Amino acid sequence: MTAAVGSPAALWVITAGFIFNLPAVRASRRPHVVFILADDFGWFDVGYHGSEIRTPNLDRLSARGVRLENYYVQPLCTPSRNQLMTGRYQIHTGLQHQIIWPCQPSCVPLDEKLLPELMKDAGYASHMVGKWHLGMFRKDCLPTRRGFDSYFGYLTGGEDYFTHVRCSPISALNLSRCALDLRDGEAVAVGYEGVYSTELLSERAVSIIEGHNRDKPLFLYVALQAVHAPLQVPERYVAPYSFITDPHRRLYAGMVSAMDEAVGNITVALQRRGFWDNTVLVFSTDNGGQTLYGGSNWPLRGRKWSLWEGGVRGVGFVAGPLLNRPGTVSHELIHISDWLPTLVGLAEGSTNGTKPLDGFNVWNTISKGFASPRLELLHNIDPLYVDIAPCPGRHRQFTLSPPVTSSFNVSIHAAIRSSNWKLLTGYPGCAVWFPRPGHNISSELDPLKSVMLFDVEKDPEERNEVSAQFPAIVDFLLSRLQHLQKRASPINFPDDDPRCDPGPSGAWGPWE
Ligand SMILES: *[C@@H]1O[C@H](CO)[C@@H](O)[C@H](O)[C@H]1NC(C)=O
Ligand SMILES: *[C@@H]1O[C@H](CO)[C@@H](O)[C@H](O)[C@H]1NC(C)=O
Ligand SMILES: *[C@@H]1O[C@H](CO)[C@@H](O)[C@H](O)[C@H]1NC(C)=O
Repeated sequence: MTAAVGSPAALWVITAGFIFNLPAVRASRRPHVVFILADDFGWFDVGYHGSEIRTPNLDRLSARGVRLENYYVQPLCTPSRNQLMTGRYQIHTGLQHQIIWPCQPSCVPLDEKLLPELMKDAGYASHMVGKWHLGMFRKDCLPTRRGFDSYFGYLTGGEDYFTHVRCSPISALNLSRCALDLRDGEAVAVGYEGVYSTELLSERAVSIIEGHNRDKPLFLYVALQAVHAPLQVPERYVAPYSFITDPHRRLYAGMVSAMDEAVGNITVALQRRGFWDNTVLVFSTDNGGQTLYGGSNWPLRGRKWSLWEGGVRGVGFVAGPLLNRPGTVSHELIHISDWLPTLVGLAEGSTNGTKPLDGFNVWNTISKGFASPRLELLHNIDPLYVDIAPCPGRHRQFTLSPPVTSSFNVSIHAAIRSSNWKLLTGYPGCAVWFPRPGHNISSELDPLKSVMLFDVEKDPEERNEVSAQFPAIVDFLLSRLQHLQKRASPINFPDDDPRCDPGPSGAWGPWE
């Protein structure tokens, strides 16, 4: 195995040669990279975590791949996608607060070099299908201007699965506007009304695979709408779930089944073209599940929009025959910002032109089981945080006593991880342990403190708050937050621009 150290191509020779006994001449080819991002897919919503929802394709692919069980994403859509595309924390791009709303004149800073640009530089064909949600007020912000050769999808954060219409308030105009949000390249895509998004997007991904010139390596980013609200799904996907009594959960389960089928269809297309033997497929959620709309992160605490594990510990795995240790489970610390250096590494590309990365190349960790190079993980620091969704129960916050020595303002919403330790400050977001689906909500909540420490390795449910027992660790992590916050970019969260209004018959899109 030591001979495989070095380039991914060398690794491929050994793995593929060993397992498939393919001719060596193919070994010099760099792998196709297919990245499938699910939206709001919760920890307890995948079959292999014991869910009542059936995900045969995800289960089978991951069983032959590497399941990432200590894998983190951001608690929201824009931030996760931002970190995937830049390899950098939100505090370094100004996007540490919430998401990009449809009328905000904001996008991922144009001086950031994005993952698809790096893949293109490395000689890849790069295509994107699905949800962008990284800003679109100017044409320069669009995926087609940021490294993707082709794009088919929608630019905002969510919409109707059948009409592809997004409704959004425009505060400056005191109105709510509903307009189409679907593009083919930069042109508005009409004629898809009635086609269910999960099928529309996966069919597009399949046709890209079918039309791909096999002489070039392929980078395909499929950002599915599933399984974000609204809860909409063709009846045939819901039929097997009549045993689920909660109507939200039942529809959600159907949406998950459609998504699982989409992933299956994409892998079958890769196999049909003969690409699969040279493909690295990554599957990841973008954040924890939204319990208000059928998602579950049981037994983890919290949900989407929170810094509890239910918001940030993500479902993720890597599949494909290039893995050195297929059929394993990784408990190494991995974060969504790590994909950029990891995938560019697989592409034998260069991260030249990026700003200082927060991500690490974790290919040896995933493929060979090496220790993760990542020792620390900043979940976020957001001084403007507010929880906008209703959260059951009440809990008050108390300041920690005795007072901490650090100068970090502990009323700020922030969380940081270092090896087994996780420190949270301020209000982390909805703190409830939502029950296993089908069970009743039970647990009384203790009051929250403004500084909380958990040993998330031993206590992934964040039940046992231990800041009083480990003051030196608290001080150290607060000093790390202070250090990072001092270097953070100013928050960019502009007011809505009324010029965003597409009018009664237009489509959401660039207005500047
Ligand atoms: C906004 O619109 C609503 C209903 O259309 C109206 O009642 C309200 O007065 C309007 N507010 C402003 C500030 O114009
Ligand atoms: C998967 O492929 C089958 C066969 O082409 C098709 O009927 C089905 O709609 C596809 N599912 C999705 C989610 O795209
Ligand atoms: C990195 O980029 C600079 C400036 O574009 C260029 O001069 C240099 O050759 C590049 N280095 C590598 C290793 O690609």
